[in-house]
Amino acid sequence: MANASADALVLFGATGDLARRKLWPALYRLSVSEQCAPLIVAVGLPGPGRAGFEKFVSAAVDDMCGPADSAVVHRLLARTCFVEGDTTWRGTMEEVARALRDAARPVFFLGVPPSRATATIAAMGAVGLPSGAVLVEKPFGNDLDSARMLNESLLEVFAADAVLRIDHYLGKEAVENLLAFRFCNPFLESVWDRTSVSRVQITHCEVRGVDSRGSLYEGIGAVRDVVQSHLLQLVGIVAMERPADGTAGAFRERIADALAAVRPVAPGHLVRGQYAGYRSEAGVAADSTVETFAALRLDVDTERWRGVPFLLRSGKGLAATAIEVVVDFVPTEDRLWFTRQAPGPARVRFRLGSRGGAVLTLNARGPGVDAGPVPVDLDFDPRALPSAGDEWEAYTHLLSDAIHGRTGRFVSMRTVEESWRVVAPALDLRDAPLEYPRGSWGPGKAAGLPGDGGWCAPLP
Ligand code: BG6
Repeated sequence: MANASADALVLFGATGDLARRKLWPALYRLSVSEQCAPLIVAVGLPGPGRAGFEKFVSAAVDDMCGPADSAVVHRLLARTCFVEGDTTWRGTMEEVARALRDAARPVFFLGVPPSRATATIAAMGAVGLPSGAVLVEKPFGNDLDSARMLNESLLEVFAADAVLRIDHYLGKEAVENLLAFRFCNPFLESVWDRTSVSRVQITHCEVRGVDSRGSLYEGIGAVRDVVQSHLLQLVGIVAMERPADGTAGAFRERIADALAAVRPVAPGHLVRGQYAGYRSEAGVAADSTVETFAALRLDVDTERWRGVPFLLRSGKGLAATAIEVVVDFVPTEDRLWFTRQAPGPARVRFRLGSRGGAVLTLNARGPGVDAGPVPVDLDFDPRALPSAGDEWEAYTHLLSDAIHGRTGRFVSMRTVEESWRVVAPALDLRDAPLEYPRGSWGPGKAAGLPGDGGWCAPLP
């Protein structure tokens, strides 16, 4: 697979929520720049027919990319075959095989729930589909054992380097900015450790609830949906050692090494919550104990980080929508002769949501007699760069990489395994999560988890 471009893209789950919000908009953007696969085989559940499917794609692109260029949408649809059927059925795969015609290096996007992944792969194997590469959505498995089983079943059909595990955070330009800050500014390295950093906070919060994904979410919950994947990737990126070289492979090794040093979450360091009204969402059980919020403290047992709390929280139905990584530095007790108070902690805040960028908060002398010190923000806003507007969304990068044989932005199996090991004590807990009102910051108990200073509120 490596370096050879795919001659077809097969999308399993082509009419689902992810396809509507992310995949079709990404394929539209790739079509604008003529970087799309020459043939797309879209597999969706039976129902809409070709006309309904075309409407679905056009509406998705219009909604997510603004009014779309109809000529580009036409080009995209003209190269797309639509196959209706259950992905675990042999008959569906036979149709996929026919639609692929003589394609020899297809990329398959396995956008199906973990519970259906193995049966889908078996159905693919049964009809002998050509094996190019396979993209597997997160969560990869449901826990450590099922992740290993899923990997084994993939390796029966695909070569090891053709299994591309998705965590779309690795496709976010803002997440790569975090890497750029850390590794392109060597002076930061001298303060990136437990002698200078007092704590690391990672917040992923969303105002929206589960929307139409209730029945899917019931089998997943916040820990599997976001903590095990996105948040632990971020922990790995913050905590990793400098890679041996600049290759993507070396970075992935270091992320996995960092996660291998994270202790499994201690039950006393975990707060689970569920927003009021979740149990009345479509597809959700009336007595569901699935968490829509999780806050946890992790310890990274390395020479660099021992003793520094990594505080993570993720939830739906919260007060704001944001993704932030905040690194607080140990404050100095020293006062200057002309200032009255001790300075607050310096801080670097990475914004990974729609705006991106970073804010470095330092102490400065305030103007006038009351001299401070005052916190001042040095704000890097990527929207102010001359190249603003050229950015790609995560799935555009990931689909482009998969189509063009680049494997650097995908997750290694070792990282998947270490992440499941870390969250294992937080999975399948029977006790009901604590209820929290929609529009709040989660259960009150979570507020106490960081100790002094509390959580850092995300910037608007
Ligand atoms: C997905 C989760 O992986 O990430 C969703 O399944 C979540 O539940 C989404 O809403 C958040 O992604 P982003 O890029 O908006 O932070």
